[in-house]
Amino acid sequence: MSTTYSEPASLDLLFPQELISPEVSAQLPSDLQIRPLASTDYKRGHLDVLSVLSVVNDLGEVAWVNQFHAMRAAPHTYYSIVILDKASDKIVAVGTAFIERKFLRGLGSVGHIEDVAVDKSQQGKKLGMRIIQALTYISENNGCYKSILNCNDANIPFYQKCGYVQKENEMAKYA
Ligand code: ACO
Repeated sequence: MSTTYSEPASLDLLFPQELISPEVSAQLPSDLQIRPLASTDYKRGHLDVLSVLSVVNDLGEVAWVNQFHAMRAAPHTYYSIVILDKASDKIVAVGTAFIERKFLRGLGSVGHIEDVAVDKSQQGKKLGMRIIQALTYISENNGCYKSILNCNDANIPFYQKCGYVQKENEMAKYA
């Protein structure tokens, strides 16, 4: 039996839905929805999808919700988005744009694309590309003069297909 999806009455979102590219929304299959992260998304498998990318260390729902509210308390800074499978009410793809305000470039801003992941069973269906397009749209609509990200060598062709070019090097020092 198929589940009929009904839009939740009011989702508590990290930022307004209007900041999601209408073009990207329109390109998704009708059974999927792209939207800002919601305060109830812990239950929809947000961390399960992120675990495709790296170690998660799940500290539980209360801690997750506290982090959500801490991010929302810094307006115009954290833009986490999800793609939801409406039938199962499960998240299948995630990503974040972090807006850095600078003193350079006439007090310009840079958009950092972070923590992009697609559920293993959904990879290869252009969901990763839709996440990048939506995050780039958010970055550009925040007036950022560039959007940047770090990735491993294996993902370079993916980001090139999304219109990104290779620039400089990444340095890291782990605590
Ligand atoms: N090598 C070559 N081409 C690739 C690769 C790859 N590793 N991955 C995707 N592509 C190509 C696809 O074939 C497709 O090409 P096409 O337009 O010619 O058909 C295009 O890139 C778009 O691919 P999508 O279907 O959108 O890719 P997908 O939905 O699988 O998402 C992603 C790609 C995000 C890398 C996914 O595979 C994933 O979650 N991987 C594990 C986690 C990860 O590595 N995340 C990125 C970390 S970097 C960061 O967060 C900034």
